[in-house]
Amino acid sequence: MSTSTMLSVENHDYWTSVANTFVWKKKWTTLQSGNFDEVNVEWFKGAKLNITENCLDRHLEKRRHKKALIFEPNNPSEAAQFFTYGELHISVCRFANLLKKKGVQKGDVVCFYMGMTPELMIGILACARIGAIHTVVFGGFSPQSLKGRLIDSNAKIIITHDGAFRGDKVTPLKSMVDEAITDLAKIETVLVVKRTLNEVTMKEGRDYFYDVLIKDCELYCPIVEVDAEDPLFILYTSGSTGNPKGLVHTTAGYMVHVANSFKDVFQTKETDIFWCTADIGWITGHSYLTYGPLLNGATTVMYEGIPTHPTPARFWETIEKHKISHLYTAPTAIRALESYGSDIPGRFSLKSLKVLGSVGEPINEEAWQWYHKYVGKERCPIVDTWWQTETGGILISPIAGITKTIPSYATLPLKGVEPVLVNEKGIEQTEMVSEGHLCIKTPWPGLARTIYGDHERYKQTYFSTYKGLYFTGDGAKRESNGYYRITGRVDDVINVSGHRIGTAEVEDAINAHDLIIESAVVGYPHPIKGQGIYAFVICMDHSHTQEEIEKQIKDSVQKIIGPIAKPDLIQVVAGLPKTRSGKIMRRILRKIVENDIANIGDTSTLLNPECVEKIIKDKKI
Ligand code: WT7
Repeated sequence: MSTSTMLSVENHDYWTSVANTFVWKKKWTTLQSGNFDEVNVEWFKGAKLNITENCLDRHLEKRRHKKALIFEPNNPSEAAQFFTYGELHISVCRFANLLKKKGVQKGDVVCFYMGMTPELMIGILACARIGAIHTVVFGGFSPQSLKGRLIDSNAKIIITHDGAFRGDKVTPLKSMVDEAITDLAKIETVLVVKRTLNEVTMKEGRDYFYDVLIKDCELYCPIVEVDAEDPLFILYTSGSTGNPKGLVHTTAGYMVHVANSFKDVFQTKETDIFWCTADIGWITGHSYLTYGPLLNGATTVMYEGIPTHPTPARFWETIEKHKISHLYTAPTAIRALESYGSDIPGRFSLKSLKVLGSVGEPINEEAWQWYHKYVGKERCPIVDTWWQTETGGILISPIAGITKTIPSYATLPLKGVEPVLVNEKGIEQTEMVSEGHLCIKTPWPGLARTIYGDHERYKQTYFSTYKGLYFTGDGAKRESNGYYRITGRVDDVINVSGHRIGTAEVEDAINAHDLIIESAVVGYPHPIKGQGIYAFVICMDHSHTQEEIEKQIKDSVQKIIGPIAKPDLIQVVAGLPKTRSGKIMRRILRKIVENDIANIGDTSTLLNPECVEKIIKDKKI
């Protein structure tokens, strides 16, 4: 007998009525099938559609001249760009025609390794228009990381920029692509969008400039009908073990969930201007910068740069300039901007703001209060939205202006979402006031369906810890009013500035260096980043200074993963605490870096208890 819970009649009716608001080429025969026991969830089986018809074409009648996209460049003296729904539709069609000319067909994987310019958004929508699968790799990942993703995803074409502007830096993306694909013969085409005009090398017959090719592309491209469960995109994310996982999101379920959660949570009105500050290289940029707003016919803002460029007033300046009504950003950005002083936002008119959003990591009370007081002027509700790359869209969040908010509480599940807390033995906590590992009991449409090319790993990672439940990897508390407070990851994943980094991946990158015998990586509380990366390392010999070792390790991690995974603190140790079977006890190291020495627990059963004291004595914080 199946232990999985079926969709309730109420939820079945709810999702049916939500789904009925979209344009379908053919309606579904089964709303939802499969379960968390067999791990074969499907939604809207039998339906045919195209998501770009829902993002663009269906708005043309009423919103052809309404702004769909506002692009704010890195350099504030460069003019902003505006795309109406009519213009965005044409741009997507032309890009789609270009992809077709380059041989891209339905089901092919197209990789994007770009800075944040409109061509990135247009490009992924162009893929969706012709049924191709996009996979965006964040520009902060190294060529080696990009290579791994290109190999795993089987992409034959990659789209990049000559370079990307971020603050006062230029990232030479094209040459990084060259490095990634030197011995990857299967990459047939590299399309280069010009942005920074830095010098690039172009390989004859493989590399093409986008601006040259796009000139000859027709203004209209018919949609390709896809099946509800055809993949829309692959997005890589880190876990507690192994290489990054390519999560596969399928078309109809993702569309329905993302559009509906955007509408519910943010409560945008027709004239509102929505700004999600995430990069499209992350799920937030897919769901709430691109698909969510466009599916709702909203105006979305895309910003190329970083919050502190050219000054820490940039966010507030941009809100005033574009009369932004909704700001959706990460606690790390809030804390960083707060550190420059509370008077800065006060110098700008933020009166257009109506709703503030938070995403990516738990928001601490202080940051919440600052956001509330100095940005929202105590009149804008804050929606603390909890979700994950795997969930596609928001699952737990206040509804703006409706749910009573409490700092650091993501509050209540959205309609149709059924969270549960389980204890360590996997027993569901039925008392309202409880604490445990956060799981989801029944399918929701936005759930990633598999890990690209490895369904076994998908089952293992999310559905094997607690039978019949989707396990999120997060811990949570539930209060008497049903409010959830997310306490953070309970696995070996670190959340650095809202970015997920697997400790195993960082350890592998450190261990790859000749200087290192072994390492252990844990997260520690960081005032701006939320968590910082703390690496304990055992070196081959003692002939190097601390400074040299730090540089070597940081370089190695930067090369293998990218700058975002560089350890903040590195401690050279003689030994790491291990169990008798040789497993590193990261739990002990975590307690040490959290300065929670009193709760380290019994170390006497360790293989090498003596090393603990020494580690505590030499610790860096
Ligand atoms: C992990 C997912 C959600 C899109 C961006 C990150 C943490 C996310 C919250 C929140 C507390 C949060 C969780 C989650 N997280 N939002 N509002 N409160 N924690 O997506 O990279 O897949 O990371 O981010 O730990 O598991 P992601």
